[in-house]
Amino acid sequence: MFPLVREAVASVLPVERLRYIGFSHVEADECGSLNEWLAVAPESSPLCGKVAALVSIDDMADRPARALTDGETLSLGKHTMRWFDTPHLPHAWECGFLMEEQTRTLLCGDLFTQGGAEHAAITESDILGPSEAFRHAMDYYAHTQNTRAILEKLASAEPTTLACMHGSTWKGDGAKLLRALADELSP
Ligand SMILES: [Fe+2]
Ligand SMILES: [Fe+2]
Repeated sequence: MFPLVREAVASVLPVERLRYIGFSHVEADECGSLNEWLAVAPESSPLCGKVAALVSIDDMADRPARALTDGETLSLGKHTMRWFDTPHLPHAWECGFLMEEQTRTLLCGDLFTQGGAEHAAITESDILGPSEAFRHAMDYYAHTQNTRAILEKLASAEPTTLACMHGSTWKGDGAKLLRALADELSP
């Protein structure tokens, strides 16, 4: 999908100006085209958590990662990204999420995955119901004893936009929705 995603990014800014290629965890849909991005954006670095850098990225990627620790921020100029370690939530030891603090946008990866291909870009209507329906059909969570505490850490950041990787981006009280997800996962 690299050519399609590249075309979409180019509608926002020239791809060669990208400085970071960020992702949540190591899977094909998260970072399978990482080296292609590093090639078209010569000033860019992979951006991920310490575990991803240690276990995979510093071996797989064509340039070393900028690896963030839990809670660390990275200034992009007008915007600031904060990294949250979320090991095994929803899956993968190296999993984590980036949040943009000025717009309070949580790039929430596989959380709230909604099945199907036809989705509005942004919605304020319920995404928890559709994402729970998808999870019950194809559960992709690790279900560890830390699930609720990690979701609470994300809720405490009080995101107002949940940028889902699969499905519509959601606007609303993100803390409330993350806590509702915790209730579904560990009743
Ligand atoms: Fe994933
Ligand atoms: Fe995914």
